[in-house]
Amino acid sequence: MNAQQDPVEIVEVAPRDGFQAVEQFIPTHIKISVVEALIKAKYRRLEVGAFVSPKAIPQMADTAKIHAVLATKDSSSPVRLSALVPNAIGGQKALDAGVSDLVFVLSASESHNHSNVRRTVAESQGELEKIVAAGRQVDGFQLRVNIATVFDCPYEGRTPEKAVLDIIEHTLEMDIPVEFGLCDTTGRGFPDHVAALCGGLIDQHKSETMIGWAFHGHDTYGLGIANALSAYNAGIRIFDAAAAGLGGCPFAPGASGNTASEDLVFTFENMGIST
Ligand code: COA
Ligand code: ZN
Repeated sequence: MNAQQDPVEIVEVAPRDGFQAVEQFIPTHIKISVVEALIKAKYRRLEVGAFVSPKAIPQMADTAKIHAVLATKDSSSPVRLSALVPNAIGGQKALDAGVSDLVFVLSASESHNHSNVRRTVAESQGELEKIVAAGRQVDGFQLRVNIATVFDCPYEGRTPEKAVLDIIEHTLEMDIPVEFGLCDTTGRGFPDHVAALCGGLIDQHKSETMIGWAFHGHDTYGLGIANALSAYNAGIRIFDAAAAGLGGCPFAPGASGNTASEDLVFTFENMGIST
């Protein structure tokens, strides 16, 4: 690798994927100070909390409050703060709270989608349509669609590529700029599979100007960095990662933390890929 490689963007997801995996409630002021410390450490995109049912994930209940406080803080350079939304109610709650950078989540596998958001994939797509309709009315609306279980589902095993492709095609019909997050929710993806799926999807949508691609990896089998490099070589330039490798979906049994953002930064920077 030489110093002329395309740079990457790292999205720090510890304040969402990381915190949601912590059972004991983290006081709001501590969550805010962690986000501030991450911003101070020069992260420029952070996923902060989720507008989800407080019964499903009590840890995320203070998301609106956190965004309200962070919105009052000045930063020397622009910082993007997004939040995860699982349905139209969550999307509306986020927009009402002034959060316009949304990460909608649905799964490529029916069983995981049901266990995570209690909907069929088609029902989740209906929720996304409502969010997009509401988002179009809002200045600065930005959409990430996180497709969970793109490689592997904890209940169904290996995910067929067609299931991922169908979600992408359906989303593109909405005719709105979108960044797709290809999520290895269980951390059971491995480098060849990551290269094949990411490379294939990017190739099939080469002429499409409205798409960005991101890779969201977990480190269950210690393959988080190898998978990220594989995704990079396949053309992905946006990576989710969590400080200290915190994280994990409470509805994906056996999954462990996210790829650690400091490991990813270390690897990319040493390979001449600026972050
Ligand atoms: N935020 C806050 N409250 C919500 C909500 C949201 N996004 N979505 C639904 N609710 C409330 C409803 O208002 C309703 O309240 P009520 O009981 O007071 O009437 C209640 O939750 C049930 O609504 P329903 O649409 O039937 O939700 P559900 O019980 O089928 O749960 C989800 C669906 C998506 C809300 C829930 O499964 C969830 O939040 N999952 C979290 C997924 C997640 O974050 N996973 C990890 C990250 S990938
Ligand atoms: Zn995750």
